[in-house]
Amino acid sequence: MSKAEKVFSLARRRGFFWPAYEIYGGVAGFYTWGPLGVLLKNKIRSFWREMFVYRHGFVEIEGPSIAPEIVFKASGHVEGFKDVMVSCLNCGAKYRADKLLEERGVEAPEGLSPEEYMDLIRENNVRCPSCGGELGNPGYFITMFQTTIGPYSDAVGYLRPETAQNMFTEFRRVYEVMRRRFPLGVAQIGRGFRNEISPRQGVIRLREFDMMEIEFFFDPEDEDFPWAEEVMDEELNILHEELIRSGGRDYETMTVREALERGIIHYRSMAYFMVLAKRFIAALGIPEDRQRFREKLEGERAHYARKVFDQEVLLDRWGWVEVSGHADRTDYDLSRHSKYSGRELTVEKRLEKPITVTVRQAYPEPRRIREAYPEKIGEIMRSLTGMDPEELYRLLDSQGYIEVAGVRLGKEFFRLEVGEERRSVKKITPHVVEPSFGLDRIVYATLEYAYREKGDRVVLSLPAYVAPIEAAVYPLLDRDDLRGLAEDIVLELEENGFRVFYDYGDSIGRLYARGDEIGVPIAFTVDMRSLRDDTVTARDRDTWVQYRVERGKIVEMVERLVTGEPFEEIARSMGLEKVSV
Ligand code: ATP
Ligand code: GLY
Repeated sequence: MSKAEKVFSLARRRGFFWPAYEIYGGVAGFYTWGPLGVLLKNKIRSFWREMFVYRHGFVEIEGPSIAPEIVFKASGHVEGFKDVMVSCLNCGAKYRADKLLEERGVEAPEGLSPEEYMDLIRENNVRCPSCGGELGNPGYFITMFQTTIGPYSDAVGYLRPETAQNMFTEFRRVYEVMRRRFPLGVAQIGRGFRNEISPRQGVIRLREFDMMEIEFFFDPEDEDFPWAEEVMDEELNILHEELIRSGGRDYETMTVREALERGIIHYRSMAYFMVLAKRFIAALGIPEDRQRFREKLEGERAHYARKVFDQEVLLDRWGWVEVSGHADRTDYDLSRHSKYSGRELTVEKRLEKPITVTVRQAYPEPRRIREAYPEKIGEIMRSLTGMDPEELYRLLDSQGYIEVAGVRLGKEFFRLEVGEERRSVKKITPHVVEPSFGLDRIVYATLEYAYREKGDRVVLSLPAYVAPIEAAVYPLLDRDDLRGLAEDIVLELEENGFRVFYDYGDSIGRLYARGDEIGVPIAFTVDMRSLRDDTVTARDRDTWVQYRVERGKIVEMVERLVTGEPFEEIARSMGLEKVSV
């Protein structure tokens, strides 16, 4: 069995994850996270939030998963979010062309045309993996899920393929509520939906998955990013464009300073997020030499991006797999939404020296509006007062009217003013650097790297700070008095906010094995001596070393363990007596 198969089997058996809708035969690309999986996911999500969002004073929003078509027309997804699909001419099975070629060991960049993929398929004699038939009919497939909003079939909506768009459509409001903080980091954690063509890699390729994204809005001419200083000497493994073009397959290790100086990374913020991403994944137990950042070449990049690095981790069965993407999205999204919505999505920057500008403004004429629309005057005026007079002028000028409260108001309802003004601020459309993480893949990679075999036992060596269950409690023998004391300890730990794995009725060896297999970092065992002196044994999951600890110190021990302090260090500093086993 490959390691991936072992992890999948453990995940199903112990309740981390399993294919959804199994009673109906399952549906590819949909998985259910079980009780342990949800706990693990929650921990990793919180860990990310603290590391990426709170530490920098960024803010988080939570928008809807469904958006009207206009949003994804503006974002370019309706046109550009598609993959090339080929079909088996014999059995009709459909495959995503690049991934099928990749599985067959044929190098196939993303972003080729259907015909180019077909040429590669023919040249390499790739056939249908399920029946061996000939492949053909290459074409594009839009990978967004479409729906309709409400009972109107023409009100087309899409399930978002990325959470990012909410951050762009709501940008101005977040900027205002944050009292115009700039640069501004906005995060969102939520579901993304992609109608993947033939997902066959478990939780690595889902049709509905969790994303954790940050859009960092800044002025590219004045990239104010103090945190970058902290990481200048830190190393990154980068498979950059030059290396790829010269046939390199691995990566080059360089400091952030070097990557910036050589122009491999353009922005300090992007380099910083890449370092943070490396540290985050390393803290989950994936060593740095099993991580790299692969630059996406022209044609492989998403339509909105000028530069992209995929953070990849080396997995047992699938090789290098992307866990996060780091993109320079320029001002593409905000500019497009501004164009499609008619709303200005800019920020005001203070100028060092004031400049003279021509200002064109439009102000509503309430008397004229009242004469024409007496019943709607209140509603119309409420909508208009919130709008910027310059924006009103721009809209009137470009489309000849403004639509509010269901009526179209032409220029005759406004007073138009053109004049010169000294300005000490200018408006700019912010640029965006985006780190985007796929939570499900990260949880899977964490499980795969934590999976170890010790003799015939499985030990899930998860870092204690993400372990789904923090402590185990077992009575050595299945007796009322030992169980009573064990249950008191369980309650005390639970009252202190920990989840406890409580088990009995089997040999202590088997109990330990069940706890180790799901990654419980510490086990407390109640034995006959506990009844006499109120101490229990504390056993480390990874080394199986045991110490004797007083009951009153159990909670403290777990508290210290989950902040990352090593078991041995805690035992030593508490002066605990080692137990020979
Ligand atoms: P891939 O090339 O593997 O399809 P992608 O380039 O489409 O991935 P992005 O668009 O950069 O991926 O998505 C951001 C993150 O979301 C990825 O780094 C990955 O962790 C995650 N992700 C993307 N697609 C899926 C999926 N189908 N299932 C699970 N996670 C995904
Ligand atoms: N938001 C990044 C992506 O979906 O690729």
